[in-house]
Amino acid sequence: MKAFVMREIGAVGFMDKPMPKPGPDDAIVRTTKALICTSDSHTVGGGIGQRHNLTLGHEAVGVVHEVGSEVEVFHPGDRVVVGAITPDWGDPAAQAGYGSQSGGPLGGWKFSNTKDGVFAEYFHVNDADANMAKIPDGVPDEMAVYCCDMLSTGFMGAEHGNIPIGGTVAVLAEGPVGLMATAGARLRGAGLVIGVEAVPRRQELARCYGADEIVDFTTEDVVGRIMDLTGGEGVDTAIEALGADVTFQTAVKVTKPGGTISNTGYFGEGEFVRIPRVEWGVGMADKTIATGLCPGGRLRMERLLQILEAGRVDPTLMTTHRFPFDQMERAFEVSDKKLDDVIKPLITFS
Ligand SMILES: NC(=O)c1ccc[n+]([C@@H]2O[C@H](COP(=O)([O-])OP(=O)(O)OC[C@H]3O[C@@H](n4cnc5c(N)ncnc54)[C@H](O)[C@@H]3O)[C@@H](O)[C@H]2O)c1
Repeated sequence: MKAFVMREIGAVGFMDKPMPKPGPDDAIVRTTKALICTSDSHTVGGGIGQRHNLTLGHEAVGVVHEVGSEVEVFHPGDRVVVGAITPDWGDPAAQAGYGSQSGGPLGGWKFSNTKDGVFAEYFHVNDADANMAKIPDGVPDEMAVYCCDMLSTGFMGAEHGNIPIGGTVAVLAEGPVGLMATAGARLRGAGLVIGVEAVPRRQELARCYGADEIVDFTTEDVVGRIMDLTGGEGVDTAIEALGADVTFQTAVKVTKPGGTISNTGYFGEGEFVRIPRVEWGVGMADKTIATGLCPGGRLRMERLLQILEAGRVDPTLMTTHRFPFDQMERAFEVSDKKLDDVIKPLITFS
């Protein structure tokens, strides 16, 4: 079968690979739609170290092709969404409620990390009964594919933010993760959502997903403006959705005492993450810093699918580009270099 791989740091391309085989608890899925993630660029850039001929991708839906002897919930022909994070549910961390950390920190992240990913005609799913969900008839593949990562991660940003009903929220960066955090904050009952973003297309989408105010980080004093918009108090919840020193520091500065900084961004550089000491109340301001990796699991995805089925959020507004799988090299370049005002490129498999 055909797969799109990271050949080594900085190099991608197609190669032929053998069809994967399921163990007793596993499934093989024939890919129908996939999305490229910013994390795929981090991986190819060396973010997780050297890899050779590793199939990329962790956001995909498809049709069950084959299941192992112990799989009970799914059968060949089922249309399924597969989490970007596929925990080992027998692991103590998963049993404690932290499936993404099963097998060690971030250990639930297997696709295009510790095993081949989903940018292939077929891919392998461990613990299939727990890591896939059937897609309802009313939800098209190109919508369901957002449940793998973007909806799950963005909503996690809002959930970890402990948003009070009617509370104030700042979302620092309105890429796809921030956009879904914005939608999540609205679903969680935020009274005021402030999006921080400079790209007009992303600013516009942030408003669509529920931002009341937009602050442009290229022309405005972000901290000052958020403090003004909250009557000098700061926000209940600041969601960091970039993974940068400036946004993390802003998040700590604009969060009021008792509030929560909910981090979703990936911090790929440097030895330390800096916390602004004074605005952190010299360590005593009751400001909580929450972190998390995209939650996986069938229950999680079934809930996300329900939100889509009920029409509460339409993530397909983020699909700016479409490519057939055989144009994956161009699709990756567009996503990687953020060409042509791209937000999410959707890949269709024949
Ligand atoms: N925690 C997880 O499980 C998880 C999952 C997926 C992605 N991520 C990470 O989330 C982050 C966001 O991913 P994405 O796909 O939305 O990224 P993206 O690159 O598409 O979007 C980032 C946005 O940040 C904006 N930006 C740049 N500088 C800014 C600033 N100073 N203030 C505010 N906004 C600024 C850019 O204009 C852009 O729109 C990445 O670090 C990614 O690796 C984490």
